[in-house]
Amino acid sequence: MAARSWLFILCLAVADAGVLQTSAQPDLKGFISIDCGLEGKTGYLDDKTNLSYVPDDGFTDAGTNHNISVEFMTPLISRRNYNLRSFPDGERNCYTLRSLTAGLKYLIRAAFVYGNYDGLKKPPVFDLYIGVNFLTMVNITGLDGAALEEAIVVVPDDFVQVCLVNTGTGTPFISGLDLRPLKSTLYPQVTETQGLSLFGRWNFGPTSNTEIIRYPDDPHDREWVPWINPFDWTVISTTTMVQNIENDIFEAPSRVMQTAITPRNASGNIEFAWDAYTQPKDPTPGYIANFYFTEVQLLPSNALRQFYINLNGRLVYNESYTPLYLYADLIYEKKPFLRYPEYNISINATSNSTLPPIINAIEVFSVMPTINVATDSEDASAMMAIKVKYQVKKNWMGDPCVPKTLAWDSLTCSYSTSIRPRITSLNLSSSDLRGDISSSFANLKGVQYLNLSNNNLTGSIPDALSQLPLLSVLDLAGNQLSGSIPSGLLKRIQDGSLDLRDGNNPNLYTNGNSCKLVKRNNKLVIYIVVPIVLVMVIVPIYLILFYLKRKRLGPRSNSTEPQNEKAEYASKNRGHMHSSSLQLENRRFTYRELEMMTDNFQLELGRGGFGCVYDGFLEDHTRVAVKLMFKNSKQGDKEFLGEAQILTRIHHKNLVSMIGYCKDGDNMALVYEYMSEGTLQEHIAVPKIFRFYVHVNIDIVMCRARVSTQRLQSTSHP
Ligand SMILES: *[C@@H]1O[C@H](CO)[C@@H](O)[C@H](O)[C@H]1NC(C)=O
Ligand SMILES: *[C@@H]1O[C@H](CO)[C@@H](O)[C@H](O)[C@H]1NC(C)=O
Ligand SMILES: *[C@@H]1O[C@H](CO)[C@@H](O)[C@H](O)[C@H]1NC(C)=O
Ligand SMILES: *[C@@H]1O[C@H](CO)[C@@H](O)[C@H](O)[C@H]1NC(C)=O
Ligand SMILES: *[C@@H]1O[C@H](CO)[C@@H](O)[C@H](O)[C@H]1NC(C)=O
Ligand SMILES: *[C@@H]1O[C@H](CO)[C@@H](O)[C@H](O)[C@H]1NC(C)=O
Ligand SMILES: *[C@@H]1O[C@H](CO)[C@@H](O)[C@H](O)[C@H]1NC(C)=O
Ligand SMILES: *[C@@H]1O[C@H](CO)[C@@H](O)[C@H](O)[C@H]1NC(C)=O
Ligand SMILES: *[C@@H]1O[C@H](CO)[C@@H](O)[C@H](O)[C@H]1NC(C)=O
Ligand SMILES: *[C@@H]1O[C@H](CO)[C@@H](O)[C@H](O)[C@H]1NC(C)=O
Ligand SMILES: *[C@@H]1O[C@H](CO)[C@@H](O)[C@H](O)[C@H]1NC(C)=O
Repeated sequence: MAARSWLFILCLAVADAGVLQTSAQPDLKGFISIDCGLEGKTGYLDDKTNLSYVPDDGFTDAGTNHNISVEFMTPLISRRNYNLRSFPDGERNCYTLRSLTAGLKYLIRAAFVYGNYDGLKKPPVFDLYIGVNFLTMVNITGLDGAALEEAIVVVPDDFVQVCLVNTGTGTPFISGLDLRPLKSTLYPQVTETQGLSLFGRWNFGPTSNTEIIRYPDDPHDREWVPWINPFDWTVISTTTMVQNIENDIFEAPSRVMQTAITPRNASGNIEFAWDAYTQPKDPTPGYIANFYFTEVQLLPSNALRQFYINLNGRLVYNESYTPLYLYADLIYEKKPFLRYPEYNISINATSNSTLPPIINAIEVFSVMPTINVATDSEDASAMMAIKVKYQVKKNWMGDPCVPKTLAWDSLTCSYSTSIRPRITSLNLSSSDLRGDISSSFANLKGVQYLNLSNNNLTGSIPDALSQLPLLSVLDLAGNQLSGSIPSGLLKRIQDGSLDLRDGNNPNLYTNGNSCKLVKRNNKLVIYIVVPIVLVMVIVPIYLILFYLKRKRLGPRSNSTEPQNEKAEYASKNRGHMHSSSLQLENRRFTYRELEMMTDNFQLELGRGGFGCVYDGFLEDHTRVAVKLMFKNSKQGDKEFLGEAQILTRIHHKNLVSMIGYCKDGDNMALVYEYMSEGTLQEHIAVPKIFRFYVHVNIDIVMCRARVSTQRLQSTSHP
């Protein structure tokens, strides 16, 4: 007769309390054993298994703790299942198990004991995912019902998430969660694209359904549940240790293999069956079974135990099989069986066999496709670190990008068939971020847009952000940042690859002072990158022009009186320029004039190694960019005036042209025609030498809005 029903009996260990400190880390064996919903920060030692259970505090940051109803707190239920964590909010809630080894196999087991904890007398139905891949629907029937779900998977990252997804049929909850590392040779059916979802792992032979075998008898802590013997089976067993064969790929524990069943009628067959468990997301599950055999009786030489294994009338294994004496062996399939609604197993002796068939244990799994690809590992880890550091609430649970319908708020991802999804933009504006800028932002290697404006970020700006190859917009405005803009970022600003907005950070550049306090060593980098071409090409040009100018103008006056000069050379050669109305004067402006032009230095466009650039207008409404030199600029007065004079005369199509300059007391400034961002980009796509020239001398960067009255005051009244 076939046994057609079975029950899962959960972790019967009644634990005694030894108190342990929790840590969200695997223990020495690599095990993680979580008692979900356990109050406090300390765990306990389970005296039956010698495993320590930890609270779930460090593994999830959502949900609420509950105890099951007292009437269900019986000794048959382990202490771990007396409490649970439920997740009334959010569609997906996850536990994150860390410190794993990417690419290795792990057994992940979750226990669900309802126990009418919410008094609703209505067990929920919800979905369980391992990372971004569906494992099973959890459907608990009966108030005292329980479910134990297990997956064996290759974990692609150094962490794995176990997620409960609310499907609108009750509040998801969880009672316990385990993770066990497995050798990669174990369970050869498990690959990167296919996991196994446990249907049952049964031990034949025990007479009591409480005789669950697990750690320490099974070093992998699999739970071997008794298959209660029907009347027509009889138990045979040995007390001798059963060995694992060399290179065993299943490592069945000796205690499981020491018992077997055989038909009571020596000429009968062993028969049992299971029904397919269909669910909406897995309507035709594909089953895989591992049949475990060990000969537990020392047979006389003339005896033979030999049999066939049949599934629904077809041979599972095309040859007859004879178990090995005191060695654990098995018959397994790599591919799932043909799909049937029910699976009848019949084990019958061959005609030559003198003894009836036996079986010691069986594992039945349904295959679990693990083909959904999660967000890039580094991106996901960085986002989790950012979430933890700033205690971000939002819907930030599970994988950041996958599935699209549950992607995290405030970020966008790129999806491609060839690589894992990557985060391309992150807008955490006005998200109440406090503390310094996390170095994890610099691990989002695919990010192009990062908006951290209007938070309470403090500390300095990490230069590591300049290593983000695709970052083109970085908005740090409206924080409490201090220090100066690091050199790497300055470089990115100057080569036009980055638009940095840092306004409304009163402490940026120490003491809330002006850009004149930018540290010298920031500039050094800029000078270093200006390559030898500059010396080799620009300097000769410079000298030639200088020579020409001297010839034309004669010895230069060192007068500091404002004056106007005509730039007669330039006017005919402005092919690409936008406006012919520009008066090409080499004008000398007073500081007061600059103030008027820029409306008191109201709008800062950018900043470079030499000074700040402000938006302004001439009397004729020509838009200009005014570069106010830092007071401690490396350029001396003389060099400055030299550069000013010369620049006004250079009008190459690839150079921004200068309109005039200011040398008024300490204040030195250059006035250029205004270039929009797009125009600047055009200019960047020009031969190298001019590019460097543009960068070093002009410093026009992307537009950045900034009210800098305070800065202006300290600039003009040092
Ligand atoms: C638990 O560990 C202790 C000390 O290591 C040992 O004495 C005891 O036998 C172990 N119990 C089990 C069930 O393995
Ligand atoms: C659950 O029961 C334990 C022990 O009786 C108690 O300390 C804890 O506060 C209870 N938790 C909840 C959420 O009621
Ligand atoms: C849960 O299981 C019960 C009993 O097996 C079944 O009647 C019910 O339809 C299942 N729920 C879902 C959502 O499949
Ligand atoms: C044992 O099985 C054989 C073949 O199925 C049958 O003929 C016989 O009656 C059975 N014996 C008992 C005692 O049931
Ligand atoms: C399995 O066995 C039962 C009875 O033992 C039978 O009714 C059923 O048709 C069998 N199923 C298959 C797929 O062979
Ligand atoms: C069983 O199958 C294997 C491989 O498919 C084959 O090598 C072997 O000859 C088959 N044995 C029998 C008895 O058909
Ligand atoms: C055992 O089962 C196989 C497959 O169903 C069948 O071909 C064979 O005749 C059976 N052997 C005996 C001795 O009943
Ligand atoms: C049974 O034994 C005979 C004689 O040893 C042998 O020829 C035959 O192949 C055996 N049958 C099986 C199924 O092993
Ligand atoms: C950025 O986030 C803020 C705050 O959540 C929101 O108000 C704003 O619209 C977002 N901006 C963009 C461009 O998505
Ligand atoms: C950053 O977000 C704020 C708030 O939504 C917005 O005003 C600002 O324009 C954004 N910055 C950029 C560069 O898009
Ligand atoms: C920054 O923090 C202070 C005090 O903690 C608070 O008053 C202020 O509103 C915060 N600013 C922002 C932009 O969150």
